[in-house]
Amino acid sequence: MTEPADRRATRDGYDAIAEPYTEEFRDELAGSALDRAVLGAFAELVEGDVLEAGSGPGSVTAHLHACGVAIRGVDLSPAMVALARRQHPGIAFAVGDMAALDVADASLGGLVAWYSLIHVPRPELPAVLAEFRRVLRPGGRLLLGFQVGDDVSHHDEAFGHRVSLDFRRLQPDAVADLLVEAGFDVTARVVRAPEVDSRAKPLPQAAMLARRAR
Ligand SMILES: C[S@@+](CC[C@H](N)C(=O)[O-])C[C@H]1O[C@@H](n2cnc3c(N)ncnc32)[C@H](O)[C@@H]1O
Repeated sequence: MTEPADRRATRDGYDAIAEPYTEEFRDELAGSALDRAVLGAFAELVEGDVLEAGSGPGSVTAHLHACGVAIRGVDLSPAMVALARRQHPGIAFAVGDMAALDVADASLGGLVAWYSLIHVPRPELPAVLAEFRRVLRPGGRLLLGFQVGDDVSHHDEAFGHRVSLDFRRLQPDAVADLLVEAGFDVTARVVRAPEVDSRAKPLPQAAMLARRAR
């Protein structure tokens, strides 16, 4: 099957910027008490095997691993996967597309898509959420993180590289509706004000927790 153009652009973009992106956001979690609080709550709630879909450099995967979560990562970008493996040799990372996971039905206790669903074109979100539901067992936990908004931020350049990356902002109400339509119960949402002076969080941010309905 031919790879969709947007998928190729996202993969090529992250392949080009994997190293400087990782360097830029290296201390992101250490500096964000709210991110750690949400991830910590997820770590306490989740049971069984967990996948981070769009794991990038693996820092969120590694944080959850350190919280005792049996987690592995999958990412579209081979350069990101290579980097994550190098930085976190005790955790498994694989190349793959969250729209077609190489994971058995109902085999996961949890799935995290932390600032990765933002690269999925809006019309494809229902299919991706259906894929998340497929791999989660009934009652399994889903954690999403995303920037709040209505627009798409397109970048032709990042860290001095020519890229074509789209960052799609999402509205929590719209995401909640999509989750319910896909067979999830939304259990919590955290919406945060923009952080001035923050390179990573100049926009409002949302985290949503959901469970696969039975
Ligand atoms: C903004 S980064 C976030 C990385 C990581 N979750 C974190 O918070 O540090 C987005 C990541 O999602 C990956 N990604 C985008 N679309 C994807 C897809 N369809 N399947 C798997 N990974 C994808 C990108 O390659 C990139 O590494």
